[in-house]
Amino acid sequence: MNIQQNISLKQYNTFGIHVNAKRFVSVNSLQELKKLVKEEKDIFLLGGGSNMLLTSDIKKLVIHLNLKGIIVSESNDNDKTVFVTAEAGENWHEFVLWCISQNYGGLENLSLIPGNVGTSPIQNIGAYGVEIKDTFHQLEALEIETGNLKIFNSEDCNFGYRNSIFKNELKGKYIISNVTFKLTKDNHKINTSYGAIKELLQTNKTPTIKDISDAIIAIRQRKLPDPKKIGNSGSFFKNPIITTNSFKLLQEKYPEIPHYIVSKSEIKIPAGWLIEQCGFKGKRFGDAGVHTKQALVLVNYNNASGEEVYSLAKQIQQKVKEIFNIDLDIEVNII
Ligand code: EPU
Repeated sequence: MNIQQNISLKQYNTFGIHVNAKRFVSVNSLQELKKLVKEEKDIFLLGGGSNMLLTSDIKKLVIHLNLKGIIVSESNDNDKTVFVTAEAGENWHEFVLWCISQNYGGLENLSLIPGNVGTSPIQNIGAYGVEIKDTFHQLEALEIETGNLKIFNSEDCNFGYRNSIFKNELKGKYIISNVTFKLTKDNHKINTSYGAIKELLQTNKTPTIKDISDAIIAIRQRKLPDPKKIGNSGSFFKNPIITTNSFKLLQEKYPEIPHYIVSKSEIKIPAGWLIEQCGFKGKRFGDAGVHTKQALVLVNYNNASGEEVYSLAKQIQQKVKEIFNIDLDIEVNII
């Protein structure tokens, strides 16, 4: 294994933030990973780098997880299910496209989400009416302290909205090495609940999973910046959930406020709307900014530092609190 010194992480995080890793190593096999975990005390895991904001140099050994491979572990023709296991270092979108090319359904709504397979369960990635918990079967993870492998099923992961056990009790304790999804070989379970998909498919009454994926890709390309062109980490904040009572008060003042009912007592408000109302949409502060088409996404136009983006995020949180009395939680990991 080749441990390199003083490597810029700019190309390894979708925000495109330049910070240095004192030591950096790319890992291509589970054996190599086990060896490193045994030998090194302070490690920092890097997957697709799509859900982090780097605000300072990394002194720990940065391990770039580059485990590759996709296998169909079990296929059942009776109930039309198929179990597919992808290694942690597989690019998420390429994996989704591979599943579509095999006509394996279930992940098509999650097309074009940046990042790698290994980090997808950590925040239970979701979009357009679907979350990975819906097709998740199990994952394999390496316990850092003991070097042992453990299998986690869906219940073990404790999935929630943009949340799992790996963001809470087990934060920093395990390295996810592969993930298995339970997919379908028929196209009957297509989820077209999201408004914009419905509209796009109005002319197509029997959409295939490829049609859905194409529609999602078009929607995302219209609204969300391509990290290869403008650095970003997708939604920077979570959509806040407030009580129905506080919502009613807000609705009196802002009758047009968009919202989703979560339960009898809880309502989810799109953070993008709140941020737009506060006047931040499309605003630029040096090279840090708020995306012009989706205010939930903070961007790095080129050379913004992590600190600059973070200070913009804090400014937004303050303003939203001041105007709406709502706390916005940051979704990306601040490092
Ligand atoms: N809105 C505004 N102004 C904005 C952005 C949004 O008024 O600048 C309003 C829209 O008009 C709409 C509502 O907010 O009424 C919802 O907007 P959108 O459909 O774009 O979805 P979102 O709630 O802002 C969430 C996810 C996205 C995911 C979309 C689609 C979170 C934190 N974000 O965004 O996820 O793609 O739904 O399902 O839940 C990501 O996590 O990186 C991500 C992009």
